[in-house]
Amino acid sequence: MITVTCSKRITTVLEREIGELGYTVVSKSINSIQLEGDIVDCMKLNYYLRTGNQVLLEIKKLHAQEPKQLYEQLLTIEWDKYISKLGYFSVVSTGFNENINNFMYVNQLCKDAIADYFYKKYDQRPDSGPDKHKVVIRLYWDEHEAIVYLDTSGETLTKHNYRKAPHLAPMQEALASGIIMASRWDKRSHFINPMCGSGTLAIEAALMATNRYPGGFRNNYSFMHSMDYNPEAWEKIRQEGKKLYTKTDIKIIASDISAKSIDSAYKNAQTAGVDHLIEFECCDFRDTTIPEGNGVIMINPEYGERLGEIDELTEIYSGMGDWFKQKCAGYLGYIFTGNLELAKKIGLKPKRKMEFYNGKIDCRLLEFELYTGSRKIVPTKD
Ligand SMILES: C[S@@+](CC[C@H](N)C(=O)[O-])C[C@H]1O[C@@H](n2cnc3c(N)ncnc32)[C@H](O)[C@@H]1O
Repeated sequence: MITVTCSKRITTVLEREIGELGYTVVSKSINSIQLEGDIVDCMKLNYYLRTGNQVLLEIKKLHAQEPKQLYEQLLTIEWDKYISKLGYFSVVSTGFNENINNFMYVNQLCKDAIADYFYKKYDQRPDSGPDKHKVVIRLYWDEHEAIVYLDTSGETLTKHNYRKAPHLAPMQEALASGIIMASRWDKRSHFINPMCGSGTLAIEAALMATNRYPGGFRNNYSFMHSMDYNPEAWEKIRQEGKKLYTKTDIKIIASDISAKSIDSAYKNAQTAGVDHLIEFECCDFRDTTIPEGNGVIMINPEYGERLGEIDELTEIYSGMGDWFKQKCAGYLGYIFTGNLELAKKIGLKPKRKMEFYNGKIDCRLLEFELYTGSRKIVPTKD
């Protein structure tokens, strides 16, 4: 059984991604999805998924209520199927167990069990530590049951590895692709991203429009360090992934008032190999080019944390509403914000409100239909 973890509120999008890869979802929770599959399926999920965090392959379910029992059960796993006696591994444990208030202790217990298994069989043991760049073992311990997983990803999949240029408040890549997938953008119409910051939304849109996947940018996954790693199977997945690349003639425009932001967005797009697909403009959002035709305009404005900022942002939020109304007819407008009070200042009635988290911040993706002709854009009453 495979478990793919994700951020809360991304599950619906992740489920769609998994379905499009041809898998059937067996069950899901608030931040994970379960499906049937083996290590090769894990490799495939690692390569293609844009919105997942970790791809976990179940090693064994253990019945244990207290630490000694857990240690003994852990010794029954054939650890040398996954970890080389000269290798390196890391353990991450979580869960809810009334006997445990510090899961660092469970990490240590699991490390000890693995070390003892190797000492007994080989008279030597692999190294261990916190780095997640080699074999990673995850242990989830509920009251009576513990599940041990091979974390085939290791380092999180939420980073898509093209963002090298720094920016103050960048959006996590998995969240950016998640909100694009939750929108009604069809990948064949224009994608306009004012206030682009480090360019995450525009870059994710360019990657999606050309069928490029996160696995194309990453050289190391934990599964590569597992004893059952099959490099030929991985190479096949990579080659198949590359064959899906397509061209696009849509317009993707990224703009920002800050020259520094545009510079970092451009550098990130270069790293992602999509700089030639994006037109960069350094301007106020109101001056962003809106090409003939239709598509999506997606904006992630600042949310405002300090008092002084709120007045300025009130103007920005109502300005976005006016701009949508006056200049963006024919497009679908989206505003992603973590400030629900400021969102009211947009002054337009959203057609849909989709819930997300940005870290711990309760956020909304607001959708506005910016019709031309007789179907008017609906202003809010307040
Ligand atoms: C929250 S950040 C966007 C982060 C972006 N989603 C990313 O992934 O990096 C908001 C951006 O809006 C830009 N901005 C603020 N006021 C603006 C304005 N009036 N016109 C255009 N851009 C503006 C800021 O320079 C900042 O880069």
